[in-house]
Order: sequence, then structure tokens, then C-alpha cells
Amino acid sequence: MSQTMLAPAHIPVLIEETIKALNVQFGGRYIDCTLGGGGHAAVILEHSSPGGQLLGIDTDPEAIKIAGARLEAYSGSTLLINENFVNLQASCYKYDFLPVHGILFDLGLSSLQLNGNGRGFSFQRDAPLDMRLNPNQKLTAAEIVNTYSETELAHLIKTYGEESYSRQIARRIARERPIKTTLQLAQMIERVIGSKRSRIHPATRTFQALRIAVNQELEHLGIALKQAVNLLGFEGRLVVISYHSLEDRIVKQLMQQESKDCICPPGMPTCICGHTASLRLVNKRVITPSPSEVEINPRSRSAKLRAAERVITEDEHYKIVEKLCSSTEIEANGWKRPTLLKKLRQTFLAA
Ligand SMILES: C[S@@+](CC[C@H](N)C(=O)[O-])C[C@H]1O[C@@H](n2cnc3c(N)ncnc32)[C@H](O)[C@@H]1O
Repeated sequence: MSQTMLAPAHIPVLIEETIKALNVQFGGRYIDCTLGGGGHAAVILEHSSPGGQLLGIDTDPEAIKIAGARLEAYSGSTLLINENFVNLQASCYKYDFLPVHGILFDLGLSSLQLNGNGRGFSFQRDAPLDMRLNPNQKLTAAEIVNTYSETELAHLIKTYGEESYSRQIARRIARERPIKTTLQLAQMIERVIGSKRSRIHPATRTFQALRIAVNQELEHLGIALKQAVNLLGFEGRLVVISYHSLEDRIVKQLMQQESKDCICPPGMPTCICGHTASLRLVNKRVITPSPSEVEINPRSRSAKLRAAERVITEDEHYKIVEKLCSSTEIEANGWKRPTLLKKLRQTFLAA
């Protein structure tokens, strides 16, 4: 039986907040970089119709199949690709999907993956230690657990899992391997940590660390976010939902840095960085789910939504002004910045 038939549906997190943060408009062009079950994508398409277009990306081929079925009614306005979002920019150029009005990242795993048979993401179901989002990739969690040195394992579990018992866990893994299944690993960690931590399952952090390492999640996120900023058209929105502090830190740092005109170290007498803001923060504070959402969908409890809007840098401003009209025309018409921005907005919406 296929995973599609077995797994319960994924409930999209912070859905209303996402649509608002993306500022979804009729006829807009949107990218869902983490298509999953197509929950967010369906609502983006609903709000952008008529005329809206969606490029849906997921590294998991199973997600593309599931979302494809869910979004069938919009097949004329969607393009779904089995791709890693680290190749976001190349994909936009390849499919001529530019400029973009909104880009969404809803990070982590879908319920379909977490509950799916044989994927090895959950410490509550016995399965081979796999954890690959894309089954075509070579590196698996089993390879990491069974071949990395004790020092490498301790470092990985500490860095990607923020696990304070990383050394003890790594030592026990090195002593007891080969470790082949999720339950074998989870029970072994339980024996190491015991009941010292009660709020979450003792294997939670180690499983998070392995999943991040197998899929190079943090590296890919950092690269893709930078590409996303450059793909957004004027006033386009970048929205990211993250589920743990390591992801959120990357998102927060990028958005904060890109929303500043100067990123010189503090105490510099004059600016030498030459940096100009390419983003404006939409919300000063991070958005989290309401208690009622958490009650309906407990998986949403750790979600954090951050959103930023593309502004044009001074350089880009001049290039666009040059493209739109000659400086003599600007002078002759007495156009000021607001008029130019209005023209720019019209050009962008018509693109
Ligand atoms: C939380 S789910 C998204 C759920 C989706 N928003 C919905 O409403 O159904 C995250 C999805 O992102 C995908 N994903 C994670 N990292 C990825 C990457 N680097 N490139 C492409 N897809 C990725 C996962 O395979 C998973 O399907």
C-alpha cells in the first residue's frame, strides 16, 4: 500500500498568518519551496486566483506526487518540481519563473514523512535508520551512526541537536554499533540519558541532529534564503516558518542583516561596508501559533514565522530608473521618488 494511502494528512501551520505575511494578490507569482502535502500551496493558489501561478518545490518525490493530486484543480497554474531548494535560483531561471511576488519556506518534515513507513525519521516507529528526505541521495543516518568516529558523532549531536549528553551518547553508539534501526538507537539513548530529562523524549535531539546532518539542512537553508532575496521582485515577500532554534537563528540573522543599511562592526567611526538594505521586516516580532491552533495541531507548537519585504537597494534603484526612463525625462516631468516607485510597482505587477 502506498504512503499516500496510509499517512494522515499534513495540517498546514499558521495558514492565515502565512497568507497575510505573503500578501497574496490576484495574479501573483509564488514559490512554495517546501511543498509537502500542498496545504499552504492550495491556499496560496486559492487566494491568488484568477491568474496566480505557483512553483512548488520539494526534494521528496513522494511529496510531489501527493501535492500533485491535491492541487489537480490548479494544474494549469502550477509547476511542481522534485528539486532541492538549494537550487532555487537555477530552477527559477530554468522555468522562467521571475520576478516573484512571494516565496515561502515551511521547514522541517511533513506529517506524511514523520508518520510514513520506513523513512526512519521517528523514534516512535521501528524502521531502518534512513532519514533521507530524497531517497536518491547516498548518505543515510545508518552510515553516519555506524561509520563516523566517536568524536565526530559527539560533535554532530552537540552542534545539530544542542544535546548536553552528546559525548555519553556518542560513546555508547561507538560501543554498541552496528545500530540498524530507529528503535534500537532510541532505546539505547534512553538507557544513556534515563529519566534525567522528562519534557521531551530523550532521543529527540539526537534524531534532530542526524536528520539535519543527513540532509545538510542548515547549509541548504542559508544558501537558499540568500537566493530567495534576490529573486523577489519589488515589494515581494519572503516568509519562513521554522521549527527549532538552529533554523530560526539562520532566518533571523539573514533578515536582520538584510534589513540594515550598514553592517559594519559596532564602533566603526564611518561606514566601510557599503551594504544597503534589501529587505524590510514585516513583523518586528516573530509570529507563533495561537493556543487553539496548538490544541488542534500539536505539531505546530514550536513554529515561528518571520516575514520580510523586498526593498530595492540604491544601486538597483538607479538601474531601474535608467531602464524606466532617461534622467532627462525624469527631470522634464519633475518625477520624484514616490512617482518612480509607483511606476516601478506597475511595471513589476505587469511583468
Ligand atoms: C513541513 S513540510 C511542508 C508542508 C507544507 N507546507 C504543507 O502545508 O503541506 C516540509 C517539506 O519540505 C521539504 N523539504 C525540506 N528540505 C527541503 C529542501 N532542502 N529542498 C526541498 N524541499 C525540502 C520536505 O521534504 C517536506 O515535504
